[in-house]
Amino acid sequence: MKTLVVYRSVTGFTRQIAQWIASDLHADVAAADAVGPARLQDYDCVVFGGRLHAVGIDGLSLIKRNWAQLKNKRVLVFATGASPARSEMLEEVKKKNLT
Ligand SMILES: Cc1cc2nc3c(=O)[nH]c(=O)nc-3n(C[C@H](O)[C@H](O)[C@H](O)COP(=O)(O)O)c2cc1C
Repeated sequence: MKTLVVYRSVTGFTRQIAQWIASDLHADVAAADAVGPARLQDYDCVVFGGRLHAVGIDGLSLIKRNWAQLKNKRVLVFATGASPARSEMLEEVKKKNLT
C-alpha cells in the first residue's frame, strides 16, 4: 500500500511524529503546504497529522476539501497537543473535527 504521511506543524512536534510514522511505514512524508490534490491522488493511504489549536486539528482542511477524492482511500488522522489524553478531551476533539 502506497502511503503518504502529511502534517501541519508550527513548532516541530507534529513533524517529528509524522517522520517517525513514515519511517515505520516506509511511507513518503510531506508538509501539508506542499501537498495538493494531484499528489494525494498518487496514494492508497493518507495519514494526516496536525497540532491541536483551540480543540481544532490545524490543517485538517486539507483532508476535508479533498474528501471527494480521498473517500475511497484509507485515511487516518492524528493530532498532537498539550492537553492530558482524558477520554472526555478526546471525545471533544473528535466531535469538533470529525463527522
Ligand atoms: C495558541 C495555541 C493553542 C493550543 N490549543 C491546544 C488545544 O486546544 N489542545 C491541546 O491539547 N493543545 C493545544 N495547544 C498545544 C499544541 O497543540 C502542541 O504544543 C502541539 O504539539 C504543537 O505542535 P507543533 O509543534 O507541531 O506545532 C495549543 C498551542 C497553542 C500555541
